[in-house]
Amino acid sequence: MNSRRLVIAVDGPAASGKGTIAKALARHYGLPHMDTGMLYRSAALALWRFGGDPGEEFEAAGAAREIGNIDPDDPELRSETIGELASRVSAYPAVRQILKERQEEFAGQPSGAVLDGRDIGTVIYPTATSKLFVTASPEVRAERRFGELQARGANAHYDEVLADIRARDQRDSDRAAAPLVQAEDADLLDTSNLGIDEAVAEAIRLVDARIG
Ligand code: DC
Repeated sequence: MNSRRLVIAVDGPAASGKGTIAKALARHYGLPHMDTGMLYRSAALALWRFGGDPGEEFEAAGAAREIGNIDPDDPELRSETIGELASRVSAYPAVRQILKERQEEFAGQPSGAVLDGRDIGTVIYPTATSKLFVTASPEVRAERRFGELQARGANAHYDEVLADIRARDQRDSDRAAAPLVQAEDADLLDTSNLGIDEAVAEAIRLVDARIG
């Protein structure tokens, strides 16, 4: 059944470790990687810069159409404000539709690919060779995000970070359009009690088992 082209879908909530795992898998299997959250963040940033209204779907869709080349090192893209706004605009079907094409194209390239996000295994590429649903408890994810913020010198409070994580989980999971949900044929990888190296090793083991 498996063709030699390998597509790996890595989905999961904020700060679950899915980005780190997806990058490590891409390196291990020699595949290109796309962090699809960056598309939503870029749409959010474009909207923010226009001073657009996040309550209006057509304005958010207009911002999604404006996305050009993405600079993954732009610190504004990684900010909590933009992550939160990305979560809001990502609930609009029009925004998701505009960003879907870029993701399908990336996943469909002859080399194969690794994509991480919320709906890769369920909506964007349901025929992926291997699907991982990476998660961790909200407390552990909040600890990680809090640590990252502190390392960046941001003035953060653990309780607020935890509340933000919970709010984001709820919004991403409860939306009608492509909600965050584990695909039926995805392997669950709970990283709550795993270090990065252990989580990556487990991810490789799960993907290898799917490749057969
Ligand atoms: O993974 P992230 O924190 O960079 O994503 C920011 C927001 O974008 C997230 O809260 C929900 C949205 N998103 C999405 O709806 N679908 C994706 N495939 C990736 C991100």
